[in-house]
Amino acid sequence: MDHDLKGRTALVTGSTAGIGAAIARALAAEGVHVVVSGRDTARGDAAVAEIRADGGAADFVRADLAGGEEAVAALADRTVALLGTPDILVNNAAMLLMPRPTADLTEAGVAAAFAVSVIAPMLLTGRLAPAMAARGSGAIINLGSINAVTGMPGSAVYSATKAAAHSLTRSWAAEYGPSGVRVNTVAPGPTSTERNERIRDLLDGMVAGIPSRRLSTPAEVASAVVFLAGSAAANVHGTVLAVDGGFTIT
Ligand SMILES: NC(=O)c1ccc[n+]([C@@H]2O[C@H](COP(=O)([O-])OP(=O)(O)OC[C@H]3O[C@@H](n4cnc5c(N)ncnc54)[C@H](OP(=O)(O)O)[C@@H]3O)[C@@H](O)[C@H]2O)c1
Repeated sequence: MDHDLKGRTALVTGSTAGIGAAIARALAAEGVHVVVSGRDTARGDAAVAEIRADGGAADFVRADLAGGEEAVAALADRTVALLGTPDILVNNAAMLLMPRPTADLTEAGVAAAFAVSVIAPMLLTGRLAPAMAARGSGAIINLGSINAVTGMPGSAVYSATKAAAHSLTRSWAAEYGPSGVRVNTVAPGPTSTERNERIRDLLDGMVAGIPSRRLSTPAEVASAVVFLAGSAAANVHGTVLAVDGGFTIT
């Protein structure tokens, strides 16, 4: 399928590892110039080197999205300096949390999760989407989760941040869609990232009864992002594309 992405530009937050790195690679393979971002410069440089070795175009911009408006503004400004207003924004970075009883939550811990996973994408989209809208084109993809629509013990905070991601998609699709900016969610199920290897048994147990009976791969999640970013999804606004092996229908 031709996604008509050659020569386009993208910012992918949290793309030094895991699903975000796979999204950056997949977009670059379609001819997109990608800004890879995250806190870890060594991993960011390695991700960029891998894309360039495969013939793609990428640059690393370090950003800690826990840093509030100043950090977000710096990331947006550097991205625009490198790419112009990007054609594609992927709000992928999030604080993934181990299960924790609600009674053990602290105000600071909850605030930290919301800062990275909800407030930063709000501020970043607020900085980039108006210029996309003024241009009359753009695609924004938020990473959601099965957690947004299921109840899991110990997952109150993470699930609330992911429900917010799904909600932001609907709000932004309504706000920016009329100006030609499409906004959609990709909602993975448990995925075989490097980080998840340490809880692999738990995750394998979670997917034992779902239709696919396996984890998603980062490349499968990235394929959904490529689809939603590209011309094949030209009239797709405000939807949730689940890449969860059927998790949410069981
Ligand atoms: N993995 C799953 O099973 C799964 C399932 C459903 C949904 N998701 C969603 O998919 C997305 C990616 O998850 P993942 O599993 O790929 O996570 P991951 O492997 O932990 O990677 C997270 C990425 O975000 C970056 N990041 C974390 N905190 C950051 C911060 N404060 N500032 C800037 N960057 C930050 C990390 O880079 P640095 O360390 O370099 O900062 C890394 O590149 C998330 O939105 C997650 O909620 C994942």
